[in-house]
Formats: sequence, C-alpha cells, structure tokens
Amino acid sequence: MKTEILRQNQRSWNTVAAHFNGVDALPSFGPFAQTDDELQLFESIQDKKVLDIGCGSGHSLAYMAEQGAAELWGVDFSENQIERASETLQGLQANLHCAAMEEDIDLPRNYFDIVYSIYAIGWTTDLKETLNLIYSYLKPGGYFLFSWDHPLYAHLQSDQGHISLNGSYQEEGMTRYENFKGEDAPVAIPKRKFSTYLNSLIQAGFMIEEVVETDVPNQQKNSETEVSDRYYSLYKAQKFPTTMIIKARKEN
Ligand SMILES: C[S@@+](CC[C@H](N)C(=O)[O-])C[C@H]1O[C@@H](n2cnc3c(N)ncnc32)[C@H](O)[C@@H]1O
Repeated sequence: MKTEILRQNQRSWNTVAAHFNGVDALPSFGPFAQTDDELQLFESIQDKKVLDIGCGSGHSLAYMAEQGAAELWGVDFSENQIERASETLQGLQANLHCAAMEEDIDLPRNYFDIVYSIYAIGWTTDLKETLNLIYSYLKPGGYFLFSWDHPLYAHLQSDQGHISLNGSYQEEGMTRYENFKGEDAPVAIPKRKFSTYLNSLIQAGFMIEEVVETDVPNQQKNSETEVSDRYYSLYKAQKFPTTMIIKARKEN
C-alpha cells in the first residue's frame, strides 16, 4: 500500500516538476517565512559535506555550493526533478540520486556534516525509516535541519479573513488530492502532528537542538496586509506560522 502511494506520488511529482523550479529553496525555509539570512540556523557551511533530502530542482544545493560546501549530495524520487537539478548544478560536482528518501540506497554512513530537507520530508510514507536512514548518514556531531508545513497550518481554513479549524488535528493519516498544481496528478500527503515529528526524531536517536515556528520576515512584520483566503498568504502568515523548522543533532 505504502509502495503504491509512493509510486503514485512519484508519477505526479514528475508531472508537476516544472511548477517547482527554484520554489522552496534555500535560503528560504518556506512560504512567507524568515529565511536563513535572518534565522542563521545553518552554522558555517564552508568545507562541509551536505546531503539534501528531496532536493527538487537543486537550487538549495546551488546555495550550499555558494556557501562553500565541500561535497554536494542530493536525493529525490522524481526523474524530472533530478534532471532539473543536474541542469541547475551544471559545472559543479554533485552526487544526485533518483530514489525515495525512505529507501536504503547505500548512501555513505557516518559521513555527512549536514543533512537538510526543505519542504520535502513531510512527503515520506515512512517517517521512522526515513529518520533512521538520515541519522545513519550523519557523522557523530553532525545535524539534520528541515522545514515543512506547520502541522496545524494544513488544518486552517480562511473565510473572508476569519480563520477556523478544518477537520481534526487529532487525526493523522493520508489525505488524498486528485489534482496537484492544477494538473491531473493525484497525490497522497501524510498528515502528522507536531509531536509525531518531535517524538520520531527522539526515537531515531536525535537530540533536538532548535525548533522554530516561523514568523513573516522582519520587513513584513508590521506591514498593512490585504485580507486573503489563499492557502499561503501574508495575511495568514502574520497570524500563524506557515512553517516548522527543526534542527536535530546526532551527538558525538
Ligand atoms: C517542494 S519540493 C522541494 C524543493 C527542494 N527542497 C529545493 O530546495 O529546491 C519537494 C520535493 O520532494 C520530492 N519528494 C516527494 N516525496 C519524496 C520521497 N518520498 N522521496 C524522495 N523525494 C520525494 C519531490 O519530488 C520534490 O522534488
């Protein structure tokens, strides 16, 4: 069942890849959220071996290269995204793997200084296995930093600016959508509670170092904003975090 969902999501990501060229890429952590220029969650990237989980079009890896990373590695299950990433990273030495993040593809163990994931980890059909793998890729002392939709954000609906709860935050599990980005591309996205992410990290062996529920960037904090009922809007983001960011370390 999980494999079926994985394959369907993979086909759909191949269909929608063009919509995401450079979207949700570092230094951005997510829509209407502070960037790493403001949050400074990555320590020095200079000479670090980095692995991007769900690397998409490769723009975050390009950012890592600009910051002086020693080795660039990326995993994404969409062939189209990997092709785009190869184009984005042309001229750079990058190890790109077309594979699901929940699959063991024999990436080096105890090797990476930084494993990160920008708006991709929540797609995994097996959070436990994915976090166990990520933990195994990291050197002792290395860290995993990821961003994803704030788990409550997906439950917020807005009607003329009045925000209310849609469905139940208590119910975890797959939500199916027939269309993705307006394309005939059915996807299933797991809904998980905030505590599920935190507890899964702890169970994988991580030490949670920092948790951020994002705010809008400083320069947009007090700006007058038009009421908007769009899924992502500055109006909503000024009231509720769009994104959670978690930094977790594999201890020495
Ligand atoms: C919003 S994009 C990420 C953007 C990217 N992090 C960047 O920095 O440009 C989400 C990515 O996750 C990938 N993805 C979704 N589920 C996945 C899975 N189970 N295993 C590997 N990649 C997956 C998609 O193919 C897509 O490229």
